[in-house]
Order: sequence, then structure tokens, then C-alpha cells
Amino acid sequence: MTTPIPSPPGLPFLGNIFDVDPQNQSESLDRLADIYGPIFELRLPSGNLVVVSDHELYDELCDEKRFTKVVVGALVELRSAIHDGLFTAHSSEHAWEVAHRTLVPSFGPLAIRDMFDEMHEILTQLVLKWARYGQDYRIDVADDFTRLTLDSIAICAMDTRFNSFYTEGVHPFVKAMQEVLVEAGRRSLRPSFFKPFMKSADKKYGDDIEVLQSTAQKIVADKRANPTDKKSLVNAMLHGKDPKTGESMTNESIADNMITFLIAGHETTSGLLSFLFFQFMANPQSFQQAQREVDQVIGSGPIKVEHLSKLPYITACLRETLRLTPTITRTAIGPRPDSKEDPIILGGGKYLIKPGSTFTMLLAKVQQDPKVYGDDANKFRPERMLDEHFNKLPKNAWKPFGNGSRACIGRGFAWQEAMLATAMLLQYFDFRLDDPNYRLAINQTLTVKPKDLFMHATLRKGID
Ligand code: HEM
Repeated sequence: MTTPIPSPPGLPFLGNIFDVDPQNQSESLDRLADIYGPIFELRLPSGNLVVVSDHELYDELCDEKRFTKVVVGALVELRSAIHDGLFTAHSSEHAWEVAHRTLVPSFGPLAIRDMFDEMHEILTQLVLKWARYGQDYRIDVADDFTRLTLDSIAICAMDTRFNSFYTEGVHPFVKAMQEVLVEAGRRSLRPSFFKPFMKSADKKYGDDIEVLQSTAQKIVADKRANPTDKKSLVNAMLHGKDPKTGESMTNESIADNMITFLIAGHETTSGLLSFLFFQFMANPQSFQQAQREVDQVIGSGPIKVEHLSKLPYITACLRETLRLTPTITRTAIGPRPDSKEDPIILGGGKYLIKPGSTFTMLLAKVQQDPKVYGDDANKFRPERMLDEHFNKLPKNAWKPFGNGSRACIGRGFAWQEAMLATAMLLQYFDFRLDDPNYRLAINQTLTVKPKDLFMHATLRKGID
């Protein structure tokens, strides 16, 4: 005997589209999970969606022998821009396999260490900006961290400088990318009968995609015409070979993946840093402990790559931030295409899933399951993420970088960048909230960031 899966009532024909706020889909889904529990269904224009928000069911869905990533919602729309690039590819697509196998070594620990100097150089620009503007300057936290992460990923993945700290406006590539991300989200929730009325939005979407593609293709052509032996992601894509088939990536796939790295790699990491600095200011004891760690391990001298593995408390602070506020809030999966499991039954026989359903996992809820993290699961307590506890967490209890073969290829890149930025900023500055009464609010595109978070940075004594 199975248990019926609850569902909000919805409307005839339109189903549950009005139950999900297009401006803030994750908060809507989290709210519905509070009402309907760890598993519920939504009827959406794209089909039946099963929403999962507790660790036990998520753990079951992480089994790659039964399930795999499915491309749904905004990712389907993004395929118009980046096709079968790593993030938006279906798992069975050949271009994904070739790019994945070719690029995994280029995102490994040694290759990422080689990117330290470029990351450090961009970060120095941010430190100089905050130092020069002084303690009265109102820092738009998410905006400055986005400039940082964009410039870092652009230089490492595209060999291109956006110089975001030296320009007032936004680079045309970045503007086009931001517009494409917002429009992809909107399109995914638009019922099909609206589509004929969206001609001007369609045209703008096409024009923005053209800016992205023509810029990326120009870089590919330029790098082919003027080869260098620099160790970089661009060169790995241009000259690397799939170790299994010996194939090279096509020019189209390289351009798609350049844009993919920019999209997947900047907001995610800037969101992480922005939430982390919010937590530091909301939890001064954690901030002081993290700063003491920097003083003891690095002191006032230059930061070296070796320092980054010797900062256990800051590591724990980053992990705890991604547990509470994973910057990619949801991942979607479905049965493997070769699955013989029909119908799908979850929870040891408890839930019978309608044919053709896809699943979406609410990562923040899964990672705050009180059955795993206790009654203070929604509190910022970095101590629980120190190695001695972290390494004993149940399987799949901390998954901000996704699952299995479709997990984040840029995790090492993001980690080095975030550790370096945190250590260096704590070495140089003390921080305070602009509005001491600020309450965390969320801004959502493909990822989430704190909304309207402003702070002030004061140079520490002895730093000049
Ligand atoms: C995939 C999170 C940084 C590139 C993913 C996925 C998650 C994730 C959850 C799986 C998405 C899914 O299942 O649909 C994060 C977080 C980051 C981060 C939280 C920072 C804190 C980066 C960076 C890059 C990157 C810096 C590039 C340098 C990618 C790519 C994929 C991916 C290409 C698709 C992998 C594949 O399916 O083969 N990321 N990411 N990410 N991420 Fe990241």
C-alpha cells in the first residue's frame, strides 16, 4: 500500500504555475515544502514535477544506477545559448562525454594551483579598491564579489580581461549574459499560449545570445591563429584530447563551454562569498576566530597557495555557508534513459511516482534536515563542519556541488578562489554592516545571492 503524494490544488489547464513565484522560485518551493512535507507534486507546463526536501529521499535519488541529471526549466532555455555545453547537456550527449573527459584533468588540484597567481592578481584589485575608497564607502557586497569572480573566471577560462574594477558600467558580454540568464528563467515558466506574444523578448534573447557566441567564437579563432603554451583552460580545450576516444573538442563546443564556465562559475562563487560575509557580520565570534586563524597561519606577509590548506576554521565556515545557503538551490534528476524500473517506487515502497515525472531537490532543505543536523540545523555553526565532524556526516548530507558524474567540475576552482579571497580580505580589513538591522533577503536568478546587502571595510591597524 503506497502513500499518496500531496499536491497544492492548482487550476484547471494551468496546474500549479501560480504556486511558484517566477521572481523567487526557490523561496516558493521551500514554502510549499513547509506546507506539504518532504515530497510533493506540482503540475507545471513542463510536466509533472516531484519536489523532494529531506535527506533520506535525496540520498535514494543520488543513486546513479537508477537516476541521472535531467535538463529542465531554465536549463532547457539556456540550451539556445550554450547548447550541449557541460552544464546544459543531457548526460547521454556525446559532446558532454568528450568535454568532460578532456577537461577533468584541467580542473584537478595541480592545474588549479597554476591559476593561483591570476586569481591573486584580480583579488588585489578588489583589496586596493576597498582600501582606497576607505571605511565610509558603502560596499555593495554581491556586486563587488561578482566583479571579482567574473574577472577571475574570465581570465582563467577565456584568457580575457573584463577589468570590472576599472570600469563603471558592465562589459557588453557580461550584460548580455546577465540578460540571457534572467530571460531563460522567465521563459521556463511561461505557458506555451503566451509565447506568440513575446516577439520583442524573443528578439532581445536572440541578440544577447549572438553577443555571447560571437565573442566566444572570436576568442577561439584568435587563440587558434596565435597559439601559446600557457597552461590554461582555453588551451586545455583547444589542444586537449579525450583520453578515451582521442577526439578533440570542436570549435563550437569550446565556445559553448567558455560561456558555460562564465555562467556557472561567477554567480555561484560570488553568492558564496556574499553569504559568508553576511554570516561573519551576523556572527562576530566566528569572524574573530577566522581572522585569528589568518593571523596565526599567514600573519601580515604575502599569502601563498600552501597556506590555503592550513585554514581549517575558514574551510568550515565556507562549508557551513554552502550548507545553509547553497548558491545553486535545486538540482533535477529523472530515471536513467536505460532504466527498466517502471513504475518508480521510492521510500522503500512508500511512494509511487507518476510515469514521466522529474524530480527536483531543494538542497537547502535537504542540508538542514534536523534528522541529520539536529534542532539547530538552521543556525550558522561552523564547528560542525570541521573535518572531524564533516568526515562523519551521512552520505549525501552535504551536496552543494551536485551529484556523481554531473557534479560541479569547477569545485576546486571555486574553493581555491573563495579560500584565497576570504583569507586575504580578513588579513587586510575589519567589516561592519551598513544597516545594523539588516535581515537577510534573497535575490534569485539561476543562482541566489543576498539582496541589498551593504557593508563597510576598515583597514586593520598595521596595514598600509
Ligand atoms: C555543475 C554548484 C562553481 C562549473 C554544478 C552543479 C552544482 C554546482 C550544484 C550541478 C548542477 C546540476 O546538477 O544541474 C557550484 C557552486 C559553485 C560552483 C556552489 C561555487 C561555490 C563553479 C565554477 C565553475 C563551475 C567556478 C567553473 C569554473 C560547473 C560546470 C558544471 C557545474 C561546468 C556542469 C558539470 C557537468 O554536468 O558536467 N555546479 N558550482 N562551477 N559547475 Fe559548478
